Amino acid sequence: MTGWVNQVFCEDALAGMARIPDGSIDLILTDPPYNLGKDYGNASDQQSVEAYLAWTEQWIDAALPKLKANGSLYVFLTWRFAPEIFVMLKKRMTMMNEIIWDRRVPSMGGSVRSYSSVHDTIGFFVNRKDYYFDLDAVRIPYDAETKKARSRSIFVGAKWLEVGYNPKDVWSVSRLHREHPERADHPTQKPLEIIERMLKASCPPDGIVLDPFMGSGTTAIAAKRLGRRFTGFELNPAYCDIIQERLAAPEVPVVGSKKRKAAAKTAVTTEGTP
Ligand SMILES: C[S@@+](CC[C@H](N)C(=O)[O-])C[C@H]1O[C@@H](n2cnc3c(N)ncnc32)[C@H](O)[C@@H]1O
Repeated sequence: MTGWVNQVFCEDALAGMARIPDGSIDLILTDPPYNLGKDYGNASDQQSVEAYLAWTEQWIDAALPKLKANGSLYVFLTWRFAPEIFVMLKKRMTMMNEIIWDRRVPSMGGSVRSYSSVHDTIGFFVNRKDYYFDLDAVRIPYDAETKKARSRSIFVGAKWLEVGYNPKDVWSVSRLHREHPERADHPTQKPLEIIERMLKASCPPDGIVLDPFMGSGTTAIAAKRLGRRFTGFELNPAYCDIIQERLAAPEVPVVGSKKRKAAAKTAVTTEGTP
């Protein structure tokens, strides 16, 4: 039964995940409510701390059995609850990285009694040592200047210079602004550039990614663009409509493309991620 593949179901993830066969998912990539009081048209981001952490443990325990033995998980969080949730996950998986997403927030305004928070925290976890990871798919090419500086005879033939370098654990990608073509009407939509890097590295071509909290459907769109399969859930019917519209729409230029960078230069900040 594969009726759940390449589908986003408009329903509670906890109920829906029960239909997914155990051991069928290559990658869980998800961006759950951070419990910062956002209005998603439901109370998922407005829970007491105890209820939020108990609910988090519930969805983790519903999702992890779906993962293949060589599968991985990425979870977006913030500093507020990342410590507690990382502890939960470390009891069940091996933690490989804490990735900092620097949202490139401009230096203006912000907190006056603490430091302004300008990053999200992403946990990267794996089931076991032989997890799928395609480093070559996400290497970053060296710029022409670096290549030239390293062109002396001792570097000639250096493979690393040709293939590019391994992305570091701080990812500096602008959050989405209204001017960006990929922007949809969702308050915490994530950039395709980030989701696509995760998929390229950690989901094999034609593999299946599960996102229990689809929001505007970024994980599904990225999977479709990259020839991966997807499945997932979203509670808010208005966001479910956005997902279907995005899946049906022609491709848009993404963050990081030249066009996107030009647009970002003149962008006006919107609420973006918390
Ligand atoms: C942080 S947003 C995800 C944003 C998404 N990554 C994107 O790029 O658009 C979290 C989403 O989870 C949804 N949600 C909350 N509780 C849910 C549940 N129990 N089942 C399914 N979706 C849920 C919310 O409605 C919200 O849209």
